[in-house]
Amino acid sequence: MKSSPTHAVRGAGRPLDRRTDPLARIRAEFDSVNGLNGVNGVWRSAGGEVCVVDPEAVRAVMGNRHGTVAETSDFFHHRHGVFGPRSAQVEIGRAARDLIRNHLSAHRHELDRLIAERLAPHSEWPDAGNLLVLSHLREVLLHRDAPADLRTTVEAIVARAVLAGARRRHPAPSRLLFRRRALRALRREVQVRQDRLDGPCAPRDLIDVVVGGGGPAADPRELVEIYLSFLFAVVGSVGFALGWSVLLMGTHPDRVAADPSWTVREALRLWPVAWLFARTPSRVQELGGTRVTPRDRLVVCSYLVHRHPGHWDRPDEFVPQRWATAVPDAAYLPFGHGPHTCAGATVTVRLLEDLVGLLSRDWRLSVTPHDGAAPQVGPALAPPRFTATLSRPDGCPGRR
Ligand code: HEM
Repeated sequence: MKSSPTHAVRGAGRPLDRRTDPLARIRAEFDSVNGLNGVNGVWRSAGGEVCVVDPEAVRAVMGNRHGTVAETSDFFHHRHGVFGPRSAQVEIGRAARDLIRNHLSAHRHELDRLIAERLAPHSEWPDAGNLLVLSHLREVLLHRDAPADLRTTVEAIVARAVLAGARRRHPAPSRLLFRRRALRALRREVQVRQDRLDGPCAPRDLIDVVVGGGGPAADPRELVEIYLSFLFAVVGSVGFALGWSVLLMGTHPDRVAADPSWTVREALRLWPVAWLFARTPSRVQELGGTRVTPRDRLVVCSYLVHRHPGHWDRPDEFVPQRWATAVPDAAYLPFGHGPHTCAGATVTVRLLEDLVGLLSRDWRLSVTPHDGAAPQVGPALAPPRFTATLSRPDGCPGRR
């Protein structure tokens, strides 16, 4: 099972020193480099990586128009290489997005009830966000006629691997045992569906999506890994992004924007769930004044790009109203940039805006951060633990 709670940044928490908070460390380096030389967007870190935060250099790396970096896809990366060809990757991404989009359209009316049932009057975050998304998109992950024990397995994967800090909550031997069993169960289901493949037909869930994109001859183990990337993306990344919006709304009640899209964009700016991307230079070249070679590891830090003082006014403040006017979009990439831009960006934003819109319109929200809680920095950037309290503005706590 993949160790990362997000599909987008596998291994991205690794490049900086794990003994300290990697986010604090890259931030401190950025501040000290800037202090010495003015705003500098590309530097060699103490850990040896080349950090890239200048928006133009970031675009050159992520856009890769001139073959700056070796072609790769984090999402489709598996233990033995990269699933391919690229056309199949693109097809799988599109089919997944369409499946989710159709589901969101058909089930939008359920969001209000879901909020009332799952979040009111009190909920514990960030898990509450992940579990709400799981509940809403359950059938996208596994259609209703899939074996019941597989459903239990998928929910256990969420509990044991997707939720923030999940790995710390279970001892290593039990994790290993569970991992083997879960992978076996998913592989069996993939094989059953590959055997039944009979020409193109509309996917019922994300297993159908990966099986349809891979075809009958694809290695089922690779298809299972891609399915897990989707599970981490849908339940993990989207749930964390919802958590950041809720936390910021609850801690800045005076700043909550009339337009939910401003809140969502601003939350993704301040706390991009996918905060670090790794790339390898394709040749010796100069990048923002730093010489790099194919032996270097480039790390693009969207967290710092989004707080770059040369591009953002009051960069560290929650100001959703900034989104009322044009912003420098070269310095904004919560869903990546270039050929590997997130296939699920539009559906993610749509779901987040719907939820944030309902929360700010129909509920009074307050949040209490847990003592000593801090952002949970791993491959994905998850919110600190907090309790949210929801009541109706008419004073009735909980349900309508
Ligand atoms: C808050 C939620 C999400 C965030 C922050 C996010 C972020 C990202 C980022 C930054 C990338 C590019 C990674 C890179 O260039 O190395 C990416 C790729 C991708 N994402 Fe997401 N994502 C989210 C949700 C989703 C969802 C719900 C789906 C489901 C369709 C999805 C599917 C994909 C796919 C298929 C790719 C690979 C694109 C390619 O290589 O062609 N993502 N995501």
